Amino acid sequence: MRSLSLIATVSVAVITAAAAAAAAADTNSQKVIPVSFGRSTTKQPALRRRVGTYSQELNNNLTGGGYYAQVTVGTPPQTVDLVVDTGSSDVWILDSRADLCGSKKKQNYYRYCLSTYDPSKSSTYSVVSRNDFSIRYVDGSGAEGDYIRDTFSIGGANIEHLQMGLAENSTINSGLLGIGFAANVAALTPYPNIMNLFQDQDLIAIQAYSLYLDDLYAETGTILFGGLDTQKFIGKLKTVDIEPDRSGNYSSFTVTLSSLTTTADNGTVTNYTRSVVPVILDSGTTLTYVPYTVANRIYRAFGAVDDTSRTGLVYINCEHLNNKNFTFDFQFGGKDGPIIRVPIDEMILDNVKAYIELGLDVPSLPFDNVCSFGLQGSAEYYLLGDTFLRSAYVVYDLTNKEIGLAQANLNSTESKIVEITESGIPDASGVASQVSATQTATGVPGTQSPTGTSSATPGSQSSEGASSKVVPVPSWEALVVACVASLGGFMGTGLIVL
Ligand SMILES: *[C@@H]1O[C@H](CO)[C@@H](O)[C@H](O)[C@H]1NC(C)=O
Ligand SMILES: *[C@@H]1O[C@H](CO)[C@@H](O)[C@H](O)[C@H]1NC(C)=O
Ligand SMILES: *[C@@H]1O[C@H](CO)[C@@H](O)[C@H](O)[C@H]1NC(C)=O
Ligand SMILES: *[C@@H]1O[C@H](CO)[C@@H](O)[C@H](O)[C@H]1NC(C)=O
Ligand SMILES: *[C@@H]1O[C@H](CO)[C@@H](O)[C@H](O)[C@H]1NC(C)=O
Ligand SMILES: *[C@@H]1O[C@H](CO)[C@@H](O)[C@H](O)[C@H]1NC(C)=O
Repeated sequence: MRSLSLIATVSVAVITAAAAAAAAADTNSQKVIPVSFGRSTTKQPALRRRVGTYSQELNNNLTGGGYYAQVTVGTPPQTVDLVVDTGSSDVWILDSRADLCGSKKKQNYYRYCLSTYDPSKSSTYSVVSRNDFSIRYVDGSGAEGDYIRDTFSIGGANIEHLQMGLAENSTINSGLLGIGFAANVAALTPYPNIMNLFQDQDLIAIQAYSLYLDDLYAETGTILFGGLDTQKFIGKLKTVDIEPDRSGNYSSFTVTLSSLTTTADNGTVTNYTRSVVPVILDSGTTLTYVPYTVANRIYRAFGAVDDTSRTGLVYINCEHLNNKNFTFDFQFGGKDGPIIRVPIDEMILDNVKAYIELGLDVPSLPFDNVCSFGLQGSAEYYLLGDTFLRSAYVVYDLTNKEIGLAQANLNSTESKIVEITESGIPDASGVASQVSATQTATGVPGTQSPTGTSSATPGSQSSEGASSKVVPVPSWEALVVACVASLGGFMGTGLIVL
């Protein structure tokens, strides 16, 4: 349902933030508190906090499309699920009295109201400013209400007095956990956002976290505040600089994509880029958006059909999935920069057949075995969303303006956590090669190249997006389209400040 937002992170009224900072406590003590999904966290004694790492499991909602973190807000704690969005910077939650939650009619358009928070049931709730919270995403979705403060817990970390939006009116069915730069908050009056408070309250040494979305078919990923997990990636973690926006501010996770090539099963490499492209790493976006020139070259090579103006999708022949070792290779920051290989079954999604049976009006296509493409063209802002991010282990260091990238070790159940200290992203090496969760015929855990296996079940997959151009209107046909969009079309990222 939600989609495309591109924008804004750069162009729109970027409000400067009092960048906070605050001296991080210098301690080597490492504290790891893994929190499993659904378990509420108990409050820590507020006596003396130690800098540590906080691991929060993320739910890859197979129908919701998007990665949710289960957090608690208020005293006593109320549990809410928030979409994790590296492309925006405000945390906001749905008020239990929000219009969407009380209207079946609205829920038919925007989906049922997920989890909400009732301020009257929290003893630590306070109002910052009435009616000042207003956030708009480029697809037209948004939320409005008050700015409030309350206690917030994630991954075992208790953050006090976090400023949040409390949505009274919303066209989005769950709140968002915006974890970008504070310079990008939607408020007219800048405020320290969650990343500032994480550091100011001595919970983590610097503003840094790692994101592991895991396999498309995996039910959970992990976000680790203040640390990284060397069991979750393959080879060396390489860093690239975050690029400032045009005004010289750091407002989004923009890095330079130096090349996008494909490697076929027979080893043939095809290069689709002719110049360096700034791209935003955005977990709140479902698909991957590259310049039209690059996308069109790739569409031609694959015989893909661009129907984004109508159904929001690019259709592609599922037969390409038979080239099991085929990869899309993204290189960042230049010749020696990190390379992330995205296996074909993370980019070509077998998720539209069920909707075609329901009556989705696909254009006439030169193939019968219809899949959708996880990569699309875009005019101005280029976003690498979940179809890219699942193949990468990404460390975001907001303090030193650096991103660490390595190939994700999919389906890893092991964990070896290293704290990120003031010196920034450590020179870390992960595991030697992919450890598959599935065993080989000999019973020896198989090692394989960073290429997934392809086995797709129609309709059972997660994220696949659709473009925002699909505005739900009350006709059956359009609703089917909207359903496809809601198969996962989340495009959080940049916001428009109204
Ligand atoms: C995930 O989707 C299911 C519907 O299949 C829904 O019941 C559940 O609440 C969703 N959870 C989250 C966190 O979105
Ligand atoms: C906003 O939501 C409130 C209920 O929370 C409702 O009374 C009001 O009509 C809504 N406003 C708009 C513009 O939809
Ligand atoms: C962001 O850019 C504007 C315009 O150049 C400048 O006035 C402002 O100070 C910058 N903000 C920060 C936080 O650097
Ligand atoms: C390698 O495979 C690609 C695509 O599958 C094909 O276009 C190309 O002709 C093949 N090249 C060789 C040398 O077999
Ligand atoms: C692809 O072409 C671009 C532009 O010519 C070049 O910078 C890049 O290094 C090439 N990629 C590879 C993997 O050769
Ligand atoms: C990861 O596990 C899922 C679910 O068990 C499986 O479908 C997928 O193929 C696995 N991926 C890899 C790369 O082993």
